[in-house]
Amino acid sequence: MRHDSLIPLSQDHHHGLALALRCRKQGLGQIRPMGAEGLRERAKEFLAFYANNLVPHFRAEEEVLFPLLRSAVPGSGEMIDELVRNHAQIRQAIPQLEAGTGLAKLIFDLGDLLERHIRKEERELFPLFEQHVERGSAETAGVEIKKILQSVSA
Ligand SMILES: [Fe+2]
Ligand SMILES: [Fe+2]
Repeated sequence: MRHDSLIPLSQDHHHGLALALRCRKQGLGQIRPMGAEGLRERAKEFLAFYANNLVPHFRAEEEVLFPLLRSAVPGSGEMIDELVRNHAQIRQAIPQLEAGTGLAKLIFDLGDLLERHIRKEERELFPLFEQHVERGSAETAGVEIKKILQSVSA
């Protein structure tokens, strides 16, 4: 069971995994419409998910969740550094997605990256939060995460 404070992030992850799968399949030409039209549709879908969900989601993780875990779990630093690098890679891909060039490879790679990133957070990072962060801090973090997610999506 996910800790209550992490549920809004897990909901984004759920949608993100579905999108990641569509991106990988689209990149491989396995879903219709195939070719340029389908790639443009996926690019649009990814850009919308990025603006509406990932921008606030990354902020909540980078400003609340990651700093808390760094201090609560010595030894988590390396994993968190990698997760932060993944966020940066996704942010950096946005202009190319908007430009619409080289979409087949870009969309496949983004789907692959997003899926691996989410699985690492769900399987490795969130359990650390649930095991090591004490109740009061976990609840405060939940309130702050919600605030960030709502401030941007409202
Ligand atoms: Fe993340
Ligand atoms: Fe996440």
